[in-house]
Amino acid sequence: MPVPKVKVAVIGGGLVGLSTALCITECLPQCSVTVISEKFSPNTTGDVAAGCLIPHTCPDTPLHQQKAWFKETFDYLFKIANSPDAGDSGIHLISGWQIFKSAPKETYPFWWQVVLGFRIMNEAELSKFPSHTFGQAFTTLKCQASQYLPWMEKRFKNNGGYLESRKVSNVWDLHGTYDVVVNCSGLGSRDLFGDHSIYPVKGQVLEVKAPWIKHLIRDGDGNTYIYPGISGVTLGGTRQTGDWNCFPNTQASKGILDRCCHLEPSLHGVSVIQEKAGLRPTRSALRIEKDVLIKNGQQLPVIHNYGHGGGGFSIHWGTAKTATKLLQELITSMPNVYAKSKL
Ligand SMILES: Cc1cc2nc3c(=O)[nH]c(=O)nc-3n(C[C@H](O)[C@H](O)[C@H](O)COP(=O)(O)OP(=O)(O)OC[C@H]3O[C@@H](n4cnc5c(N)ncnc54)[C@H](O)[C@@H]3O)c2cc1C
Ligand SMILES: *[C@@H]1O[C@H](CO)[C@@H](O)[C@H](O)[C@H]1NC(C)=O
Ligand SMILES: *[C@@H]1O[C@H](CO)[C@@H](O)[C@H](O)[C@H]1NC(C)=O
Repeated sequence: MPVPKVKVAVIGGGLVGLSTALCITECLPQCSVTVISEKFSPNTTGDVAAGCLIPHTCPDTPLHQQKAWFKETFDYLFKIANSPDAGDSGIHLISGWQIFKSAPKETYPFWWQVVLGFRIMNEAELSKFPSHTFGQAFTTLKCQASQYLPWMEKRFKNNGGYLESRKVSNVWDLHGTYDVVVNCSGLGSRDLFGDHSIYPVKGQVLEVKAPWIKHLIRDGDGNTYIYPGISGVTLGGTRQTGDWNCFPNTQASKGILDRCCHLEPSLHGVSVIQEKAGLRPTRSALRIEKDVLIKNGQQLPVIHNYGHGGGGFSIHWGTAKTATKLLQELITSMPNVYAKSKL
């Protein structure tokens, strides 16, 4: 007798929801997966991002866990960057410098062994940055979201997954149709699940035409960065905690341009192609865990995966794997379902 598929709804079609949905279809073939989302690429937070793999430390998530997620993500994307899929997926290597006005407490950040060729900059290199006294040189990866997100959607659909464009206003509407809900709704979790510990940190970036820029330059304070990409150079940024307005603002753009020109004077007079702003779904700790909602004696199992803040690209594949593992455990514990996985 054929075993019926486990019906899984993933809420959220951003970077986190898509990668989680894709990972489930790859690892748990006994699941039928539907991504339900109000927004898809090019309208998600990831579409605004520079997509550079440099982790942001999440204060209340154990560091070894963040390192493991970063390593899993880096190794996975590095393989893609070295395959014939590199062009379609928009993933490429990028080298350069993170510089500091004064040496940070940890001269070797927790992720130094994950990126390639990490070393402390020498005097000659540092002479490029007269207002900085310390720097780190390394090679990392960058995802061009306008290619990477559609590429994931395509692979997900090839694996038999479904995409549904709509808002979920009550998670209980999914009960009955789906066996499990995976919650990757980012800031949407606030209304949907009543989680008030998630908040926006607005970020703005500029896309400029400056094809001579070949190195990443990031001020260690995290406020100013220059990331060359496939179709332009991303200049950033801003960080406005609690700001829900997701439109770019002219004053902020001027500030970004001034700060970037200070770091890299060759950018003076550069032409701006686009201004973009987005809201980083931020929480003091990422939330990746199993949960069971109960109402009138009915149960709805939920796997949460949200709160990636300013570092979603850096850890998304690792968190997708963890969420998938939790789903597998849940399925194994569900009656009448034969769980078989490739994890
Ligand atoms: C300016 C900027 C620069 C950045 N740069 C980098 C970088 O260089 N490196 C890096 O690692 N990270 C970076 N990030 C962070 C990264 O973009 C985020 O961590 C990531 O995009 C978050 O993905 P998400 O899927 O959780 O959120 P989102 O993309 O916001 O996805 C949430 C999805 O859920 C849907 N949704 C919510 N509620 C509901 C509902 N009730 N019903 C249906 N759908 C719902 C939404 O429509 C949306 O599609 C940057 C972010 C910004 C803003
Ligand atoms: C993105 O947003 C624009 C403007 O609101 C809309 O016209 C377009 O259909 C959206 N794209 C997707 C894939 O949802
Ligand atoms: C889904 O996640 C959001 C945070 O993104 C949270 O606020 C919400 O409570 C979660 N929804 C459910 C049904 O647990």
